[in-house]
Amino acid sequence: MTSIPMSTTAEQTDQRARDEAFWKDVAQRYDVEPGALNLEYGYFGRMTREVLRQYEQNLAYVNRSNAVYVRQRFDTHDSEVIRADLAQLLGVGAHEIALTRCATESLQTLIRNYNELQPGEQVLISDLDYNSVQTAMRWLARRCGAGIVEITHRHPATYESLLQSYREAFVANPGIKLMALTHVTHRTGLVMPVQDLTDLARSHGVDVILDGAHALGQLDFELEALNVPFAGFNLQKWMGAPLSLGFVYVRQGRLAAIDPDMGDTRYADDDILGRVPYGTPNIPALMTLPTVFAEHRAIGGSAVKGARLAYLRDLWVKEARGIEGIEVLTPDDPRLYCGITSFRFTRHEDQQVMAQRLLDEHGILAVTRYGAGCGPCIRITPGFTTRAEDMARLVAALRALA
Ligand SMILES: Cc1ncc(COP(=O)(O)O)c(C=O)c1O
Repeated sequence: MTSIPMSTTAEQTDQRARDEAFWKDVAQRYDVEPGALNLEYGYFGRMTREVLRQYEQNLAYVNRSNAVYVRQRFDTHDSEVIRADLAQLLGVGAHEIALTRCATESLQTLIRNYNELQPGEQVLISDLDYNSVQTAMRWLARRCGAGIVEITHRHPATYESLLQSYREAFVANPGIKLMALTHVTHRTGLVMPVQDLTDLARSHGVDVILDGAHALGQLDFELEALNVPFAGFNLQKWMGAPLSLGFVYVRQGRLAAIDPDMGDTRYADDDILGRVPYGTPNIPALMTLPTVFAEHRAIGGSAVKGARLAYLRDLWVKEARGIEGIEVLTPDDPRLYCGITSFRFTRHEDQQVMAQRLLDEHGILAVTRYGAGCGPCIRITPGFTTRAEDMARLVAALRALA
């Protein structure tokens, strides 16, 4: 596969996104089980054959060598090299990140251990945040004797309406101290204007915990430039790492706001490693990360991956906007969408029934999502093995079912 350098022009990135021969080549690096057309890559990504092969080899090796390798080499050296590799990929300091098992663990750990919330203050969540983040924020508020402010975003969302929703919440509730913010919501794929929102939050003295679960690997961003104090991520969605890996990010200078996890004393007070749950990680999975990062870079990084996913999304959305009986919920402002987009059948009450019909009658797997203020929807998420013709198949199915 020809790789392209990370520093390419927007035009080159755009060309690559449309280059079916290139993506056919990429697709050949994966084994895909025959069956339904998978438009539910929002759950987790597939490993390439090479990553899978390495993972299997690492598993066999760690099983053979056991503590002789893990105690003498992995714990003392290799795990730090892997953390440094990840930090380099993100453009942050290794001391600002700690590996975890998933985004949920990362985000809940940050929320659980946030120590700057005082009784009488408030936390803020929105209808588009992830369920386990919402429940953790409610839990934190209860535990600290704080209040909870829950906002519902306007529909259809615009760049300005998203900023306005938060602006109004901050003005109406000057006691807000901490907010959850989801970079890419799992409900509709809407991309939040994170940088502007963190600036706004900071001007109101509000700390942000960023949920980056769907952003890493499909949105081209500089973590440090987002200016968030705290963030949680996973590596199995758009990075294509084995399942069971994630990490927390705590910006330099903000570690004191997060307590050691459950009173951990294994690490120094200024070491982020003590801020995440202790335990034996999935070592063979961690050992694959250098290969995962090398493949990510070789394909052109998040810029190229994200452009491809957004291109596939545009292929079906452009057609679907013109189909009577289909409402696409995610806006077309390029700042506000990525590869994931949701829609609903307006003439059918039950979207779950329609998702089942998509599968039964057209062989297409997609999931329903509930909880957004804009109502129940069906989420479409292409992946790196999805072809332009798969999107045409989806459009034909939507026409038939609408
Ligand atoms: C927005 C968002 N946040 C958090 C998570 C949780 O990620 P994980 O499965 O790594 O815990 C997901 C998973 O789909 C998600 O979509």
